[in-house]
Amino acid sequence: MKRRLFFRKCGVITTTISLCPFENFAIELDGNKITPTKLSEGQYIVKNEIVRVDLNKADFLKSVNTAAKINYTLGKKKSKLKVLIIHSNSGYKAFENRCTHGGMELKYLTDTEELRCTSFGHSRFDLNGNVRKGPASKNLKILKLSQEDQSLIIYK
Ligand code: FES
Repeated sequence: MKRRLFFRKCGVITTTISLCPFENFAIELDGNKITPTKLSEGQYIVKNEIVRVDLNKADFLKSVNTAAKINYTLGKKKSKLKVLIIHSNSGYKAFENRCTHGGMELKYLTDTEELRCTSFGHSRFDLNGNVRKGPASKNLKILKLSQEDQSLIIYK
């Protein structure tokens, strides 16, 4: 009974917070942490191990300080590949979206221009893939990327 009352009160608190006029302030405190948007098929195609992102269909990526991710399988062995694309002030970059510590995905921190692991370890990497903070000790794999008109082309 007490437990039920506790959860009922928590529900009220949660609702109050989400309706709170200072909600944006709370987001601000969280820093400018960009959770990559997962692209859907149609926004990109994979052919001959090359990923081509259509910027007209994934047009949010035309803005600076945005990030997208693509998870796809390749070949007969169905190897799973994860790509992270970020658009920073210095342009587009693509990474293997896998923390070198334990394989977790990454988020993009725009304030410090780094990538941060989503695990509790929170390894951090600069935009050249170099480790800034462990526990990861290996650098991130950067994927070759080029831009052609309204497409980003990413090589495995
Ligand atoms: S998986 Fe990234 S810090 Fe452990």
